[in-house]
Amino acid sequence: MVPPSEIWRAWLGEDAVPPPLDRFLSRQRADKDTFAAMGRATAWAATVAAALVPGAWAEDREGLLSQLRGLPPRDVLLAADACADRDAPRAIARAVSSLRSRLRDAPSWGAACVSHGVPAGWAAVMARRAALSGEGFVRRWLAAQCTRPPLWVRPREEAVVSLRAEGWKVEEFPDGSARVTGARGIETSSAFRTGKLEVQDRASQQVALLAVPRPGQVVWDVCAGRGGKTVLLGHALAGRGSLHATDTDEGKLAGLKQRVRRAGLADVVRVRAWAGEGVPAFGPEARRGFDVVLVDAPCSSTGTWRRNPDARLRMEPGDLARFAETQKRLVELGMGVVKKGGKLVYSTCSVAVEEDEDVVGTGALYGPPELDSDTLFGAVLSVP
Ligand SMILES: C[S@@+](CC[C@H](N)C(=O)[O-])C[C@H]1O[C@@H](n2cnc3c(N)ncnc32)[C@H](O)[C@@H]1O
Repeated sequence: MVPPSEIWRAWLGEDAVPPPLDRFLSRQRADKDTFAAMGRATAWAATVAAALVPGAWAEDREGLLSQLRGLPPRDVLLAADACADRDAPRAIARAVSSLRSRLRDAPSWGAACVSHGVPAGWAAVMARRAALSGEGFVRRWLAAQCTRPPLWVRPREEAVVSLRAEGWKVEEFPDGSARVTGARGIETSSAFRTGKLEVQDRASQQVALLAVPRPGQVVWDVCAGRGGKTVLLGHALAGRGSLHATDTDEGKLAGLKQRVRRAGLADVVRVRAWAGEGVPAFGPEARRGFDVVLVDAPCSSTGTWRRNPDARLRMEPGDLARFAETQKRLVELGMGVVKKGGKLVYSTCSVAVEEDEDVVGTGALYGPPELDSDTLFGAVLSVP
């Protein structure tokens, strides 16, 4: 069993226990208030406890919290470690012994989840993925969730030369991605400021490559969000054709517009908010339909747990059915406007079969254990 404090330490560095939960929460909007109201120590107690006790978060939230409340986060982490047979003071050991007995009774995927810092409620989701992709895949995938992914970028033109000249270490890969390490934030680099580089996870880049259009084609990026994939597709058009980027979230689209301008793509990318129902009224160039439609669907984001470790505690497996319903609807909508000879690319950042193969039949997962990245699912649906 990987001691939970090791998981968080791997994330936060040797000196960061108790971890700066606030930093994570400041990046999240959902549930932030709940966590803030619980207080930092309790939130961490809950974090560790939820990772340790099968189903406890859902079953007996209050009971669990009262058991752990009052213990400083460091002690809760030690208590968690005691499950991995380390010494612990008696008070902590008492709290742990009940966690331990429940752990023993956990179903097998529950125990595997818990020992990798994933709440046991996800066991059934892991079991379905294992049935399709193999037990070894899921075990290695779970192990990857205990480590932090590196910074991936997509450099263009002279970006790599410029990054190296400014002190960054850059490893380039044949798919056009690059892994970057350095002491400063990448946003301070000249390559970033001049739009010669996009920060984008490697698996996300690989999925976007499935949807790359030819110059002159007409593209609809249905769930464009902040535009990670939009920019990659926009560059492929080489100044010809058009790319319509829509999303239901106007806040994200504001970020997308900025990104598109920085990348020098304002002439090919048309951005607009959309209610998510029915096909928007596009210009005459889309009258005969689209060559490429990308549905990068809203999902549970289980594939981003490495980057946002608290996300596994804020999403419930019960949410999958609701996402799947929206995903199926968006695919149907998109398929209705693909030209003959064109294609729809469907993607999620989820490892759950419920949101992937159940929605579109077949496809592939991109991510750990093969790639040191987030996990994305991608499928190409061609229209003959
Ligand atoms: C996976 S994210 C998109 C990420 C983006 N394509 C990128 O690569 O950076 C999914 C997006 O779907 C949007 N969304 C949520 N509900 C939607 C709906 N009913 N119809 C369309 N888009 C929706 C969300 O606002 C979110 O930006």
